Amino acid sequence: MSAGGTGPMSLLSKIVGRPSKPASTLLRAGAPAEPPGSWSDVVNSYQLPFDQSGEQARAANAAEAAYYAQSDRIAHKWHSYLEVYDRHLSQYRDKPVRFLEIGVFQGGALQVWRRYLGQAAILNGLDIDPRCAQVDDPDLTIHIGSQTDTALLARIVEQMGGIDVVIDDASHVSEHQIATFEFLYPLLAPNGIYIVEDVHCSYWPDFGGGLRAPGAFMEYAKGLLDRLHARYVLDPDPEDRDPGFADVTHGISFHDSMVVFEKRASKGPPRTNAVGTRWTF
Ligand SMILES: C[S@@+](CC[C@H](N)C(=O)[O-])C[C@H]1O[C@@H](n2cnc3c(N)ncnc32)[C@H](O)[C@@H]1O
Repeated sequence: MSAGGTGPMSLLSKIVGRPSKPASTLLRAGAPAEPPGSWSDVVNSYQLPFDQSGEQARAANAAEAAYYAQSDRIAHKWHSYLEVYDRHLSQYRDKPVRFLEIGVFQGGALQVWRRYLGQAAILNGLDIDPRCAQVDDPDLTIHIGSQTDTALLARIVEQMGGIDVVIDDASHVSEHQIATFEFLYPLLAPNGIYIVEDVHCSYWPDFGGGLRAPGAFMEYAKGLLDRLHARYVLDPDPEDRDPGFADVTHGISFHDSMVVFEKRASKGPPRTNAVGTRWTF
């Protein structure tokens, strides 16, 4: 197949020939000629009326059921997050999970987490807005301060006796998300889960982002994908081959607007094992 044809090789040559746009032509559907006017236009376009009791009745998993049962303080999540939460957090239900949500807002999300995770969960919230101290539910612990204050983060983790789950739903500024992750991920328990949500902000300059913008959280997360594969890199720079992150990370999942990091205790070097006794050719 020639490079000018329409087969897989021409597709490959197009991809290879355009390194600044690594996304393939796979499944193109066509987009409007003009981009959205602003990030708030994007958000507003997806803020549609809905029937909460109908959603509750149709709940496809326990996280949806817990979320749509919320009737007290306001919680605000995108619908698609709920399935992702359930996939990663169901392992902690009815266990004494040490859980920190950064970004408390009205406190409703923490009440949802209580409903979902159960009475044994140790639920903490951190918010920069001092009004969040008014979230005075006796089964929640609220800390006031910035997600980039590492001394505060260290104190919170110490008070919690360690930390199993972090959800970063705070400023959504890439620099903050990266600083918080870099401090808390190493402190996260083996087998812990770290979720950064609303990473669509990573595509918006108002939050320190932009498509493939240096410094955007999404670019940082893509870099961590390479670090997850550091043991396979053949390049000379030892930094690119440092296995420290890979050794404690089981996986990174990218979902629409969420990145989930799964830690794994003493994962160690990979193994490759052939099994069976008979060669076919
Ligand atoms: C999107 S709201 C959180 C919503 C809540 N998690 C929920 O699901 O209902 C974001 C919150 O992050 C807080 N915030 C903004 N910048 C922050 C920072 N640098 N450190 C900590 N919290 C911050 C805001 O005050 C706000 O309450």
